[in-house]
Amino acid sequence: MANTIEDLIPEYIRGLPAYIPGRPIEEVERELKIYAIKLASNENPIGPSPKAVEAVKHAVADANRYPDGGTHLLRAKLARQHGVTMDQIFVGLGSSEIIDLTARILLSRGKTGVTSHGSYAPFSLAIRASGADLVRVPQQDFAFDLRAIADAVLANRETRLVYLANPNNPTGTAFGAAEFQEFLRRVPADVLVVLDEAYIHYADRPDMPDSVELFREHKNLLTLRTFSKAYGLAGLRVGYGIGDTPILEAMNKLRTPFNLTGVSQAAAIAALDDDEHVNRSIRENAAERTRLTRGLTELGLRPVRSHANFIFIDIGPDAQELYNELLHEGVIVRPLGWMGMPEAMRVSVGIAEENDKLLAVMSRVLAKREGKSELTTR
Ligand SMILES: Cc1ncc(COP(=O)(O)O)c(C=O)c1O
Repeated sequence: MANTIEDLIPEYIRGLPAYIPGRPIEEVERELKIYAIKLASNENPIGPSPKAVEAVKHAVADANRYPDGGTHLLRAKLARQHGVTMDQIFVGLGSSEIIDLTARILLSRGKTGVTSHGSYAPFSLAIRASGADLVRVPQQDFAFDLRAIADAVLANRETRLVYLANPNNPTGTAFGAAEFQEFLRRVPADVLVVLDEAYIHYADRPDMPDSVELFREHKNLLTLRTFSKAYGLAGLRVGYGIGDTPILEAMNKLRTPFNLTGVSQAAAIAALDDDEHVNRSIRENAAERTRLTRGLTELGLRPVRSHANFIFIDIGPDAQELYNELLHEGVIVRPLGWMGMPEAMRVSVGIAEENDKLLAVMSRVLAKREGKSELTTR
């Protein structure tokens, strides 16, 4: 018999690594007594849509009432936008909730969930937290190897679920339509393919897959979108899935009642009408991403070509040390050791002044390191 509550926690949950978010600005400023900027969580640096801010002000006046638990207006609007039916849209507490729910529904001990090395950590966490076996397929040149992932799915009859992100976080790479179509053709219809398109607005390869179109043919495809990036509403926690009704119905049974606040729903509805803000976010990110990539390259670093609002840099053995040095100069970026990539870091694309500061501090820190012969970058 178990002696303590701790003994009751299943081993596969006790053994889980904690998700380590980017460090908050206030915490770093308090600890180091410096002014800091944060380029660590891939947020929208220009802020939320002004239309969403206005909608929030009105919606908060109804905060004494429970919100619409079925997110009716938002689902109706999303369904119209994507050309699907309302019961093919599920709205979640960020897309994070949907990642979690899909694993809870389809996985358990003895089953297998597949994802890639060097992808979004919550995919692996969700699989492991369900008690299922986790298979992580190696990447090629920091990108998903879809052929090898399909091979891994076919090699294991217990596979129920695959998580992919396109563009990928943290590497910023993206796969094209032909490659993905071939993948979908090979994966059995009873394996759910969760395609996380959190950064889709920022992708600029012309042959990105049209996931909604592909869904018409492949009912095992569940596409995830979020309001946390191009719409600038990360703090309000709104994400959604476009997929087949049976899996969405199961998610509706498991989610917490009233998962989305009325304020969040109103903000998301208003943000959908603010094309100007989304387009500005995309435009400014693209310009700053190009400038930052060039600046980092000129400093002798090796940024990976990004299709998102962040840049992955393959640093070498001193990545963690470089992260600490940047932190002490007031620039918070994201070390990736906890995600199994100890030789890399990820920097979010900020506004021009933030990117200028990153480049200036990086230049200073790298120059100092030149003097220290024991330090090595690739
Ligand atoms: C690939 C990916 N999916 C999902 C999320 C989380 O999105 P949300 O804020 O909608 O939960 C993130 C956040 O950074 C992400 O990078």
